[in-house]
Amino acid sequence: MSDFINSFWSWYVAAISVVSILACAVLLWLAGKARVKASEAAQKDNTTGHVWDEDLREYNNPLPRWWMWLFILTVVFGLVYLAIYPGLGSYQGSQKWSQVADHQADVERMRESLAPLYAEFTAKPVAELAKDPRALAIGERQFMNHCSQCHGSDARGSKGYPNLTNGNAAWLGPLSGEHIVKTITEGRQGVMPPMGAAFASEAAISDLAHYVLSLSGSPHNEIKAFSGKQSYGVCAACHGVDGKGNKALGAPNLTDNYWLHGWGEAAIVNIIKNGKTNVMPAQNAKLTPEQIHVVAAYVMSLSGSGVITAATPAQVAPAAPPALVPVKAP
Ligand code: HEC
Ligand code: HEC
Repeated sequence: MSDFINSFWSWYVAAISVVSILACAVLLWLAGKARVKASEAAQKDNTTGHVWDEDLREYNNPLPRWWMWLFILTVVFGLVYLAIYPGLGSYQGSQKWSQVADHQADVERMRESLAPLYAEFTAKPVAELAKDPRALAIGERQFMNHCSQCHGSDARGSKGYPNLTNGNAAWLGPLSGEHIVKTITEGRQGVMPPMGAAFASEAAISDLAHYVLSLSGSPHNEIKAFSGKQSYGVCAACHGVDGKGNKALGAPNLTDNYWLHGWGEAAIVNIIKNGKTNVMPAQNAKLTPEQIHVVAAYVMSLSGSGVITAATPAQVAPAAPPALVPVKAP
């Protein structure tokens, strides 16, 4: 009803409801009193005068009393219901009951009953909570509801969406409770600027891409990598002189064999030329700080092994055969 800009339709609907109920009551009253007009002969033996199948006749009695009362009760129930609960147009009913408030009260009751448990959870640091199976069971469900659409139900991500089961080396930020909680609460934005303009030619970019591939020992062309090395200077500010990345800037480690945005010359040339802005939206409107603490513990528990894997084949360079090496100098 709140969709309408004035109260006309509300009154219209309310009036139809009330008139229908009253009409039922009037019909009942009339039907209760009226008798079929019968001939004099019929009136004597109290029948309607209709005869079927030669000798079947119908008594001219009013409606049975129990049946009448049932009908009256229904009408009274309808009116009382509409006075108490919403049903008459936009009238809220004397109890001001609503589905939304009812649901919110349920949620509130649930929160209250879980409050002591969450208080116990938040008292522990994330890394310690990551060993508590009760917290992990709750955290897993929250992950499925709020995170899996991007990071996958196994948390191994996909192209552009980080694999959260990886060890610290492949993380954009430090693998710590603080970083995980901050990321979930505030979201994060990874920005690699487009740098195509910094290069004299396409060939120089392609050479640099081979140098980047060489950092992780991924298949590459050694000669191209050698000449690409000199242009790596512009990248070192963020990815580090040794290519190990910079967690404070969110610049990924280029020496591990985990490629968030895909491995290979084409993918790297593309990111150098066009840059990349990768956004994780803040989740603090959907989750309370206590829930974030618990889901962070779940995420932390997944990364325990330190092993680095990728969800899609495009994100790991094949170890063998090294398709692009070695290319012999002419
Ligand atoms: C809309 C998609 C989306 C949702 C939903 C989402 N994330 Fe993310 N998340 C991302 C992206 C994209 C990044 C990478 C951002 C970047 O490149 O800096 C990321 C990064 C992260 C990181 C940092 C990883 C690293 O290597 O440092 C963590 C931790 C994380 N997400 C956890 C979560 C959790 C837990 C949830 C659920 C509460 C969640 N995310 C929900 C898209 C999402
Ligand atoms: C201003 C800092 C900055 C500079 C300079 C920079 N990068 Fe990046 N780079 C980033 C960030 C941040 C990301 C991660 C984007 C994201 O969160 O998805 C990134 C991502 C990448 C990736 C993708 C890694 C993966 O796992 O898929 C490659 C490859 C890369 N950069 C190469 C380079 C090269 C080569 C240069 C030099 C031409 C360079 N970057 C310069 C910040 C930088």
